[in-house]
Amino acid sequence: MKKIPFGPTYDEMLHPETIDPAIRKWALQAKKNELDPMNLFNITWKDEHDQVRKIVLPQALTGVEANIVVLIGKDFPSGSHKVGPAYATLIEGAVDGDIVPGKHNILGPSTGNFGIGVAYICNLMKYDSTVIMPDNMSKERYERIKGYGANLELTPGTESDVILTLEKTHEMAREEKNVALAQFELMPNYRFHRHVTGGAAIEAVEGIGNGRIACFAAAPGSAGTLAAGDRIKESFPEAKTTALEPYECSTLMDGGRGQHRIEGIGDKMCTLIHNVLTTDFIALIEDEDAVRGLKIIQDGRKILEAMGLTSAEAKALKGLFGVSGICNIIGAIKMAKYLRLGPEDNVVTVATDGFDRYDSVLEELEKRYLETEDFVLERWFCDIFLRADTAHIVDYRPWEMKKRLFAQKEKDWLKFGYDKAYLEKMKSMDFWDAEYEKVFYYNEEIAKKRTKEKEEKR
Ligand SMILES: Cc1ncc(COP(=O)(O)O)c(C=O)c1O
Repeated sequence: MKKIPFGPTYDEMLHPETIDPAIRKWALQAKKNELDPMNLFNITWKDEHDQVRKIVLPQALTGVEANIVVLIGKDFPSGSHKVGPAYATLIEGAVDGDIVPGKHNILGPSTGNFGIGVAYICNLMKYDSTVIMPDNMSKERYERIKGYGANLELTPGTESDVILTLEKTHEMAREEKNVALAQFELMPNYRFHRHVTGGAAIEAVEGIGNGRIACFAAAPGSAGTLAAGDRIKESFPEAKTTALEPYECSTLMDGGRGQHRIEGIGDKMCTLIHNVLTTDFIALIEDEDAVRGLKIIQDGRKILEAMGLTSAEAKALKGLFGVSGICNIIGAIKMAKYLRLGPEDNVVTVATDGFDRYDSVLEELEKRYLETEDFVLERWFCDIFLRADTAHIVDYRPWEMKKRLFAQKEKDWLKFGYDKAYLEKMKSMDFWDAEYEKVFYYNEEIAKKRTKEKEEKR
């Protein structure tokens, strides 16, 4: 059997061009077989030419002068960037000696993509795993998880019932054999996105506009992705970070707790790993706009061309986004308007996954709207993208506003056994910087373990 590597360091995920060329070549070849463990070295935002996978949206779509740059997550192994936090949490646990193959069963609480990532990583690294998720998510997700050989533990509800998955995870984690890769509470998720996604965002805007980032907008599920904003602010202190929430489930904005259709975000909590100190704005996006927007991108090529996109531009968009990706795009457009950004300015956002897991969402849309003819799509196009407005954007920079988020965090996490002193520490940037610094410790430890493993196998 081929040797199973220990996997990449944080630095190597950010800069795969620094991986030993023989390993990198081998990993790129492994893309043909997604269950080849060498795919661990393909956990990166970069393509085989070491370029960040991204798209700069056509202005005919956004209607704004600022450049909207979307990092594309669908080409990560397992189909979304959530595999990054899953790997980071597992590898840190392995380095620390807390997670041992054969001894431990890995738990992945999730509404989908993180669970898919956990199941996938555990397959590659030979751990048993159980994904804990609501029973009403898109069916493509369960199929993928089972396909990777993980067990499924279903809790009642949808995206907005993720708290139940958390409760179940905490209950199961009491068994000695179970270890939870708790994405909402463990810092490797923060570290992965601050270092790897943040670094990729900074590279992605090189040569675009003024080469800086004026705003980073992302809809939090675990709020891992939002941590990219902390890295971006280090390079571009003027950058604003915006958290996007479903209008129907505006928990951070005002404690709203409704059901919504944007899978992966709006989980009815302020997650433990959410650095609210650096969240500058919160903006609400209507879930139906995100679903309709996806329909236009997927099936509205004629309309896109009629509205001014070139045929190549319209074609290039197809398949790149899921529902939350469209939510992020709408949020980015709104923020470009709100901040009055011009042609030199860049707004960065992410597409966590691609269309491959959302067929059923558009089928459901077809059932709800008996008419989705071109004239309807054209109206939707104008309303959703070109006329995106600046309503429901709130400035969260004042300390009074932060206090609301701290209070939400307490409400959500004291009940899971975290104490006030720990939450208090999170009110200082020192806490987050110290957590981030650990990236450099784990870089070294992962590299050391890899060398040791190689020597033992000789
Ligand atoms: C489709 C999708 N979009 C967005 C997110 C939110 O990302 P994060 O958990 O990093 O906040 C997730 C998280 O699982 C997701 O699956």
